[in-house]
Amino acid sequence: GASYTVDVIPGDGIGQEVTPAATACVDALAERHDFTIEWRDRDWGSDHYRSTGRMLPVDGLEQMADADAILLGAVGDVDIPDDVTLWGLLIPIRREFDQYINLRPSRTLPGVPSPLAGDKKLDVVVVRENVEGEYSEIGGRFRRGQPDELALQEAIFTRKGVSRVTRFAAQLATERSGRLVSATKSNGIIHTMPFWDEVARETVAEFPGVTLEKVLVDALAARVVLAPDSLDVVVASNLFGDILSDLAAAVAGSLGVAPSANLNPEREHPSLFEPVHGSAPDIAGKGVANPVAAIWAGGMMLRHLGQPEAADTLEAAFGAVLAEGTRTRDLGGTASTTDFTDAVLARLRK
Ligand code: NAD
Ligand code: IPM
Ligand code: MN
Repeated sequence: GASYTVDVIPGDGIGQEVTPAATACVDALAERHDFTIEWRDRDWGSDHYRSTGRMLPVDGLEQMADADAILLGAVGDVDIPDDVTLWGLLIPIRREFDQYINLRPSRTLPGVPSPLAGDKKLDVVVVRENVEGEYSEIGGRFRRGQPDELALQEAIFTRKGVSRVTRFAAQLATERSGRLVSATKSNGIIHTMPFWDEVARETVAEFPGVTLEKVLVDALAARVVLAPDSLDVVVASNLFGDILSDLAAAVAGSLGVAPSANLNPEREHPSLFEPVHGSAPDIAGKGVANPVAAIWAGGMMLRHLGQPEAADTLEAAFGAVLAEGTRTRDLGGTASTTDFTDAVLARLRK
């Protein structure tokens, strides 16, 4: 069978706990579906920063450039400023490897209690622009400590950037319901958003089977809660997509069940798979983190690598474990991270 090289960066906090769950599941699937994975373990992250002054080695990106994929846990440490850890590891990977699509599916799952009223369902994919927009490098803090201190950051939207993320989302919409919602804020306040709307409209016009609805992001946030079944594929800028994907995850039941794929669709560079959630310092080290997001991210990786059947097997396995009532604490259960993972592994090995 096929063989893949995957860099694995557990990183910080619960990343150390949920990433082994994901690699164990992928290994079990490799056996069953006749492929092999060569894991390259990378002990990069905040401890690496404490001992070397860098989140990843100087040539870290080069070391990963020939990988078939990257699997990441989380980045973030209570003692190191977030701008140091994030600009030192996660953001450079997304940018250097031009992972301009961040795909974030969320759906209500049998056995996962959702805060939605009644029997409302959610099944949404947020297609988040992942390398430009509000997350720009232009700006900073000036006149530190002085009375006239200020901070500013330019948002950068390019025609190329907006059209390629919208095209990807429109293509995905053709494979789903044909309904595409674009998150915007074009009511005269944010100057970049009329441009986003215009490029989105032009791009989606190339897809006769797709209807595009632009929705102001504030109202869209309300709609995720009030009318989730009216949403299918949502395309959003970097910051709006970040916020909407945590919201969708919470509406589906927990940040612990939300996976994410940072894709370089042209496959010129490796893509990165990770949970939507962060390092969760409040529960780190307790063995209670929900591993579903990381495991599911492993499934998205397998789909990307060309193993869709293995990905289907994996989704069915953790879905069945949830449905039978094995749940971690974030979902109101009592299972530990390893209890849950062992239950999935038992199914994969059956
Ligand atoms: P977080 O996602 O780490 O945690 C938010 C809340 O959700 C916490 O109460 C946490 O316990 C809970 N939670 C998250 N994942 C869970 C899981 N798998 N199981 C059970 N509960 C879970 O967000 P935060 O607290 O805002 O950020 C913590 C750190 O993580 C910060 O340093 C932040 O910058 C970083 N961060 C990193 C990433 C990433 O690596 N992609 C993403 C988000 C935040
Ligand atoms: C995410 C995270 C990151 C983001 C942070 C940690 C930089 O919140 O992956 O959603 O905003 O992209
Ligand atoms: Mn986020």
